[in-house]
Amino acid sequence: MNYGYFDDAAREYVITRPDTPLPWINYLGSEAYFGLISNTAGGYSFYRDARLRRITRYRYNNVPFDTGGRYLYLRDDASGQFWSPSWMPTRTPLDSYTCRHGMGYTVISGAAHGIEASTLYFVPLGANLEIWRLRVTNQRATAARLSLFSAIEFNLWDAWDDGTNFQRNFNTGEVEVDGGVIYHKTEYRERRDHFAYFACSAAARRTDSPPQDCQSSLAGFDTQRESFLGPYRGWDNPVVVERGQSGNSVAHGWSPIGSHHVELHLQPGETAEVIFVLGYHENPADDKFDPPGLRQTINKRTVLPVIQRYLQPDTVEAALAALRSRWDDLLSVFTVETPDEHVNRMVNIWNAYQVMVTFNLSRSASFFESGVGRGMGFRDSNQDLLGFVQMAPARARERLLDLAATQLENGGAYHQYQPLTKRGNDAVGSGFNDDPLWLVLAATAYLKETGDWSILSEPVVYENRPGTEQPLAEHLQRSMQYTLDRLGPHGLPLIGRADWNDCLNLNCFSETPGESFQTTENRGEGKIAESVFIAGQFVLAAKEMAGIAEQAAGGKPHPATSDLQPAAYYMQLAQQMEAAVRAHGWDGAWFLRAYDAFGGKVGSAECDEGRIFIEPQGMCVMAGIGLEDGLAEQALASVQGHLATEHGVVLLQPAYTHYRVHLGEITSYPPGYKENASIFCHTNPWIMIGEAMLGHGEEALNTYHRICPSVRAAISDVHRCEPYVYAQTIAGKDAPTHGEAKNSWLTGTAAWNYAAITQWILGIRASHDGLRVAPAIPASWSGFTASRLFRGVTYHIDVRRAGPGNRVALTVDGQPVAGDVVPLPRAGVGEVRVAVEVGR
Ligand code: GLC
Ligand code: GLC
Repeated sequence: MNYGYFDDAAREYVITRPDTPLPWINYLGSEAYFGLISNTAGGYSFYRDARLRRITRYRYNNVPFDTGGRYLYLRDDASGQFWSPSWMPTRTPLDSYTCRHGMGYTVISGAAHGIEASTLYFVPLGANLEIWRLRVTNQRATAARLSLFSAIEFNLWDAWDDGTNFQRNFNTGEVEVDGGVIYHKTEYRERRDHFAYFACSAAARRTDSPPQDCQSSLAGFDTQRESFLGPYRGWDNPVVVERGQSGNSVAHGWSPIGSHHVELHLQPGETAEVIFVLGYHENPADDKFDPPGLRQTINKRTVLPVIQRYLQPDTVEAALAALRSRWDDLLSVFTVETPDEHVNRMVNIWNAYQVMVTFNLSRSASFFESGVGRGMGFRDSNQDLLGFVQMAPARARERLLDLAATQLENGGAYHQYQPLTKRGNDAVGSGFNDDPLWLVLAATAYLKETGDWSILSEPVVYENRPGTEQPLAEHLQRSMQYTLDRLGPHGLPLIGRADWNDCLNLNCFSETPGESFQTTENRGEGKIAESVFIAGQFVLAAKEMAGIAEQAAGGKPHPATSDLQPAAYYMQLAQQMEAAVRAHGWDGAWFLRAYDAFGGKVGSAECDEGRIFIEPQGMCVMAGIGLEDGLAEQALASVQGHLATEHGVVLLQPAYTHYRVHLGEITSYPPGYKENASIFCHTNPWIMIGEAMLGHGEEALNTYHRICPSVRAAISDVHRCEPYVYAQTIAGKDAPTHGEAKNSWLTGTAAWNYAAITQWILGIRASHDGLRVAPAIPASWSGFTASRLFRGVTYHIDVRRAGPGNRVALTVDGQPVAGDVVPLPRAGVGEVRVAVEVGR
């Protein structure tokens, strides 16, 4: 079944039927105000923090699926028939339907009964609000008298509390309705200084112009859910819509909603435009009320000008143009033209877009992440930065410093921090022993991209505690030391609670139903279980530290590197760890995964299940272990032989068939799901990178194609998630649903795939000395062109295949250059032309 197509010129995915296998969503907003929107207008909005500042309510795992959103109803007042132009929630058959998901906006169009309606949803830059711009056209031969109803359901701010604490929450709801604007002000009377509002342009119209000239006018409103829906009814047939008349209800307690009733009178061929603005606003704590004192009426002096501005069509048009131009800028940082349309589409549009979304939201709010559970992951956010850093280096810098400020003095890390407070999350704590090393990798990526050495001397606190400031360089140093202080019997890093694989819990021994595998008290002292994955990661990080220290030796002006050891020290650490991996982490044909708490092997040919894991193969090869003597070749051949499937590379084989208390959550999943042998897409790019490092362009691209959303669009009935973004997981070959994706959008898969394709297959990557161009493209590619903005200079890169293999010959602005790094041009040069011959 075909559900849509890519419109690459418009940078949109166009969904052509509403009943997609799962809701196919998009994100609105990229700064402080965010929304999720499905192809049938489902979803919700929040300000900064999906848990603590939830603006609209959304019930996860609802029936019907994806009920609750930004709904509009149209009613033919002559016949009483009504429908939703976004199909949901009435699910009335539409004569036509499209949903265009674009960069930060979504347009949903639907026609029924000769009335075409199209709604543009977006969040303007610099504003804490969302716009719905509706255009309704009468395509009939006769005049139409219509009623339009809007509907949202307010959340009482803390989404967790909102979904659980009914004995209180059914009593606290409060609204104000003033000038057609619905204000939601639950708890504003006490400690909150923020409120939400829902405004409609039709209200403004009525006062400005005489009613007889009006296509649209506000006829009423509702703010009490039960009054709008009617008892025991759902969003699919609200009683107010059925009877064509609002109740003008003012909510007190129960469930505040926002609904406007707009009357539309349209001549044949005529179009009416109605703008809705849903927003969030804060007042100063000492100026909340107007008049001050007991009346408890919201002070609207600062919000009204905002509302009035955004209800103007010109403002909306200008804000949309500004948003488009922001995305033009962001996406122009790196563009490619290759013989592969999937690579082009993902690199130029969707992968870059997803990288931005994951950078903003970490793993907090998607249609699989409920927004109440997880803050910003330390490991996750560092990895997200790897894909994002070139798009907005200043934001990457801020993020690095935020992350480092949650680090513990012993070099360890809080596993998560809260976006609103930027503080470490005590509920989850620390002890994931891979965490600190990701900070080193992210900081290195930032330094290579920007050359901004000043960040290393930036004073940063530990655990957000003033007075503990140390230069960032010292934080990196402590990250390394954290591993060195925690080596196990084989000289390999102790795993702690888990490493990258949150579910490999070798010290947890959980026997209590429902207990969290990640946070429960670990058994014993954790001094035996070791991770080969962290060992590989440490080798990689140590080499990066050496690279940074070497730059210092090269005389660059960055005093903070004096907080670092000399390059030779880090190289020695890398060598020692590599020796431990070779001695105790090589299983004969692949890298071992770990030693358990009894010193037994995990991920070895000796095991009955879980004989080979993907993660250490990817990480050790990326760290350069065994590139010269065939271990890397052998490890990746084992991956292709044992783990590769038509839908991607699975995490391990054979899948665990029963629960093993000494391995933890990984064995809690049925075979083929999640960490227990699904295609955990996040790890596949590590294999792509490894293949590229070995010069296997064919295998790298082939591995990519299997998980590439654009390729998988052809099998949407199997894949089921959105065909324009990566999912975290695709069911593995042991699952009955092999090939079915879950957990789309918020996954490290976005950043790592972006890195794998752009930096390793296309081979264009930042280095301390300049832009490296070292492609590992398939033999069948005649070449490609790319444009890359790097440290303020635009590089126009033209790669031509001259023969087999991956050797490159560079010509920079007409001059041959030795090696594969394009040196930085002299100051003032804004553009550089690079001609690359591959296979000469
Ligand atoms: C999830 C987590 C990530 C972890 C991975 C593997 O994607 O967000 O931090 O590495 O699962 O368990
Ligand atoms: C579960 C998931 C894993 C995720 C973790 C986060 O263990 O399987 O993917 O990283 O939860 O807490």
